[in-house]
Amino acid sequence: MTQANPLPDAPVTVARLLAQLTLDEKISLLHGNWSVLEKLGEAGVIPGVPRLGIPPLRLSDGPSGVRVTARATALPAPVALASTFDPALAHAYGTVIGREGRALQQNVQLAPMVNLVRTPYGGRNFETFGEDPLLISDIAVAQIQGIQEQGMIATVKHLAANSQEHDRQTVDAIVDEQTLREMELPAFEAAVRAGVGSVMAAYNSVNGAFACESPELLDELLRQDWGFDGWVMTDWWAAHSTQASLTAGLDMEMPTGKYFGRALKEAVEAGEISETLVDRAVDRILTVMDRFGLLEASADAAPPRDPAFGAEIARQVAVAGAVLLRNEHATLPLTGAAARSIAVIGMTGSVPFVSGGGSSHVVPDHADSPLQALRARAGGAEVAFAAGVDWCGKDIPAEDLSPAVLLDVTGTQAIPPGRSWSYDGTLCADEDDEWTFVLHWSHHEEWTQEDDAVPIYNRPAIVFDGEELFPVQPGWEELFTGGLVGTSADGLALRSATRNVTKGTHTLSIRADADADGMSFRLRRETPATRAADLAEAVSAARSAETTVVFAWQDATEGKDLETLALPAAQDELISAVAAVTPRTVVVLNTATSVTMPWLPDTAAVLQMWYSGQQGAQAAAELLFGDENPSGRLPVSCPADEESHPMAGDPARYPGTDGRVTYSEGIHVGYRWYDAYDVEPLFPFGHGLSYTEFTYADLRTEAATETGVEVSFTLRNTGTRSGAEVVQIYLGPSPDLGLPQAVRKLAAYRRLTLAPGEEQRVRLMIGRRQLSSWSPSEHDWVLGTGERAIAVGASSRDLRLHGVIRLHA
Ligand code: BGC
Repeated sequence: MTQANPLPDAPVTVARLLAQLTLDEKISLLHGNWSVLEKLGEAGVIPGVPRLGIPPLRLSDGPSGVRVTARATALPAPVALASTFDPALAHAYGTVIGREGRALQQNVQLAPMVNLVRTPYGGRNFETFGEDPLLISDIAVAQIQGIQEQGMIATVKHLAANSQEHDRQTVDAIVDEQTLREMELPAFEAAVRAGVGSVMAAYNSVNGAFACESPELLDELLRQDWGFDGWVMTDWWAAHSTQASLTAGLDMEMPTGKYFGRALKEAVEAGEISETLVDRAVDRILTVMDRFGLLEASADAAPPRDPAFGAEIARQVAVAGAVLLRNEHATLPLTGAAARSIAVIGMTGSVPFVSGGGSSHVVPDHADSPLQALRARAGGAEVAFAAGVDWCGKDIPAEDLSPAVLLDVTGTQAIPPGRSWSYDGTLCADEDDEWTFVLHWSHHEEWTQEDDAVPIYNRPAIVFDGEELFPVQPGWEELFTGGLVGTSADGLALRSATRNVTKGTHTLSIRADADADGMSFRLRRETPATRAADLAEAVSAARSAETTVVFAWQDATEGKDLETLALPAAQDELISAVAAVTPRTVVVLNTATSVTMPWLPDTAAVLQMWYSGQQGAQAAAELLFGDENPSGRLPVSCPADEESHPMAGDPARYPGTDGRVTYSEGIHVGYRWYDAYDVEPLFPFGHGLSYTEFTYADLRTEAATETGVEVSFTLRNTGTRSGAEVVQIYLGPSPDLGLPQAVRKLAAYRRLTLAPGEEQRVRLMIGRRQLSSWSPSEHDWVLGTGERAIAVGASSRDLRLHGVIRLHA
């Protein structure tokens, strides 16, 4: 049986191996090399040393499942997991990943990501666990334990301050010590204390030093302060040096060996780097491999996948992570006439929005669309559909082209391997107009094999009026130009380009060269007229139904931040238009993070489901019809508009100036900022409604002990349905600390399920760490003594019980 705990003889085995390894072999363990093994779609590979029985290490991306070429369980995005406020579900989520990872021949999972959500524009906000360090830590630890108990090594990423995608490779995050320790680092520290096997250092710099070669982060903090005994790898292509990195404590360069390959060997041979530093890094890697049983000759065979278990956990997380933001006049759940006549509006009603883009995208086993799931659940009820806003475009009528042709070179028309397809003609505009061209093509990703490998792209060249509409961007730019909305229903990649056209004819040339896989493509178009027709169709569908459910999306991906907090395309207009004709308008959001909602007062209900994974459609149907009761809570604050959030109006704070981003909000991240500056959010941190009601009573606090302060109160389900409540305890500042402190911070929480009429005495402990602040002068945690306010409630702004605790030094 593979153990997650160190084996008693681990050091001996590793020491024996170290003594037998040649310098070349040692160096081969310190960097990725994906040209020597068959790729299974993992992000990186360490080939191993077969001569000594050291197996390869395969590293697969996450964090919302195991990302390889093969199918796996596409779990809901981590933001949905955080919304459950349920470490037990996070543990199950980790169990699915750990088991599937091993079944898919992987050894290291590049998850969880625990960077703080600091800016609402963060492109990866859906990949992490929100804006509160206690919640992030708890969810991360439980997930890591779930992964590692299955024999897979977890990787906590990205150390540290990787809170934005804008300039992520180069930006220098300027963060004061207290803010780092109290806000960004607690989850990394908790992960280390939970025994995480590896840490990924971030692309960016922190306070002037690249994270991948920062002695403060990699040595003083990780090793000396926290006692980390695993290994540190770079983010992909994030290394900048050989000697400085190795000396600082970096152990592994990924995914290739630009600095830790030949350059390292030459430096050792030239006597510039001591081989003991190489040994130190190898020792750290082998020690973790040994701890996970990977060096045993008779290592356990990988268990088979359990897709049914994966699907059930994906469903449970999608349900428990769904946040009911608004529910006027008990519009939800749908019952009676409201459940018998439904219009589903929105592309993500018919194309399941399983996950965000970038390295987190998992190939799902299977995913129904909400439309399918709602039709299945609604029995014989009428469920109509209209896209409303169409991101795929419409066929360009053949007669608008001269020579006339239908630009749909897919299916049996597709271009065979090695052949080309070209077109030279004109396209006619009947009037001055604005056109959005949408290119669909079969995208195959290939990489060059050098140390500085870059992706190679092949797509059709579309030249309109002499301008190439979709030029391939150099290197990395392309990698993250689209998330899931960048895909058509038949799996082709999408790009769009908008141009103003004048009445008359325009030249159009197309050239498509198929590679060894052949090529499919089509060129489509949207115009103001097609948009108006789509909108009119949606309004008419809504008018004919009792209930309208609009599925709205926001496409986020690693590699770029969001440019706006508004829903993209014309979705705000669509929701407003639909809500204007039907009072029973329900909006289901599949967004990465909080979005602005100008249409909110006109809607009846809003259900935030984030990127809800492969079972998201079933979860949506179960929640809308009331088979399940919503219980998710916001792990991020939702700003009222683009001017009212912690990053507004200060470019030095975000997106940064002169290559730096300054965390000048200090510890006032997320809801702490709204409270400190008395700004009203649209929805506060911790908010989420239920189909039942809860009351809170009889607050009691016990005297402080060595472990903390116990707080108790009585929770009662006063409604008519069983439901889960996430009770939250917030702690006020200490009068005795001369340090910045939050007006209130989450100090303890629990998710509890109560039957109708059921009452429970809830006891929660506020731990010593929560009662302390980081003192930059003492470089340590100091207890916040004196009289401190506590409040118990259902969100950071829905506080039902108030009390005080007294703490002595
Ligand atoms: C991301 C990491 C990811 C790695 C490997 C990087 O671009 O920042 O989170 O694990 O790629 O795909």
